[in-house]
Amino acid sequence: MSLWSVLSSPAWGPGSVVLILVLLLRLSVQIWHKFYLWDLQHCSTDLTGKTAVVTGANSGIGKAVSQELARRGARVILACRSRERGQQALAEIQATSKSNRLLLGEVDLSSMASIRSFAQRLLQECPEIHLLVNNAAVSGFPTTLTPEGLDLTFATNYTGPFLLTNLLQGALQRAGSARVVNVSSFRQSHGYIDEDHLIGAGRPLTFNQNYDCSKLLLASFTGKLAQRLQGTGVTVNSVDPGVVYTKIMKHFSWSYRFLFWLLSFFFKDSKQGAVPVLYLSLAKELDGVSGKHFSSSCVITLPPEAAQDPHVAQSLWNTSVRLTNLDKVD
Ligand SMILES: NC(=O)c1ccc[n+]([C@@H]2O[C@H](COP(=O)([O-])OP(=O)(O)OC[C@H]3O[C@@H](n4cnc5c(N)ncnc54)[C@H](OP(=O)(O)O)[C@@H]3O)[C@@H](O)[C@H]2O)c1
Repeated sequence: MSLWSVLSSPAWGPGSVVLILVLLLRLSVQIWHKFYLWDLQHCSTDLTGKTAVVTGANSGIGKAVSQELARRGARVILACRSRERGQQALAEIQATSKSNRLLLGEVDLSSMASIRSFAQRLLQECPEIHLLVNNAAVSGFPTTLTPEGLDLTFATNYTGPFLLTNLLQGALQRAGSARVVNVSSFRQSHGYIDEDHLIGAGRPLTFNQNYDCSKLLLASFTGKLAQRLQGTGVTVNSVDPGVVYTKIMKHFSWSYRFLFWLLSFFFKDSKQGAVPVLYLSLAKELDGVSGKHFSSSCVITLPPEAAQDPHVAQSLWNTSVRLTNLDKVD
């Protein structure tokens, strides 16, 4: 049977044409990811003897990142808020990476008390930390106050990572050479900076704009922290993983989740989404590179203007120090 007779068969309706187009689109997205993502397999970085902390390690990108770090010999602290989900992830990562150097740490990033107690336990166990991946985040919540008077989304996505990183700063510096990787989002360009958002006040936000704004604050924090850590051996950068099919939409209505699922055919999976985060964590060419924002294609890009403003960054830093009580001696 010739190709022409196959193509001219009446079995080919408009539905088949659409299906083929969708499959071709999907194939081109996969090819694009394969050739334009940083090549993890060619990175020889070995992490034996190193300690890494990954927040939100029980799901999505955080789990995939933890798995790769463990595979490369690192002692990985899986910082999760649920003991049950954390233990399940630990068992999975252990089985696939064959690592026996995994530890579970319980921490709720939206609670400053939980972060302080986690950091205290962690520092006793690990006086030196070579890599901190601030990955955990939530989206889809309206303005909601935590018992400590912070907005839940901002607390989880910004204030929590701010406090945790500051509390672990000594251990990062003791490591001699260390990296902080802040997992940001392309959504940061839809945000704006209003410090009152941190306490659930401030200018009104459109649906899920608290997520966008919290990621913008993370970008401002990245630049400011990098400046403060100059000369210490600790670098800090932020990265957008791209659009990745994970549980990040789990707090949205079913219609949004259905749409996300439908379109997921064209999105990255967790392993692909982890690649830009792993690039910042592992790539040797990034030794000494600090205060930069990387796109999901692992290219340095400028963060939105608000996140580049040194006065805004200083003011945000001061407010964050006050809100997290970092200015008070324990
Ligand atoms: N997926 C995307 O398209 C996309 C795009 C841009 C940026 N990102 C960023 O990528 C990062 C990873 O997200 P993901 O896509 O992998 O989503 P995910 O599968 O939902 O993972 C988020 C992780 O954060 C944890 N988490 C949430 N609230 C927490 C809290 N209060 N304390 C401690 N851990 C908490 C979650 O724990 P539980 O399982 O206990 O909830 C989960 O482990 C996030 O920073 C996200 O903003 C994702």
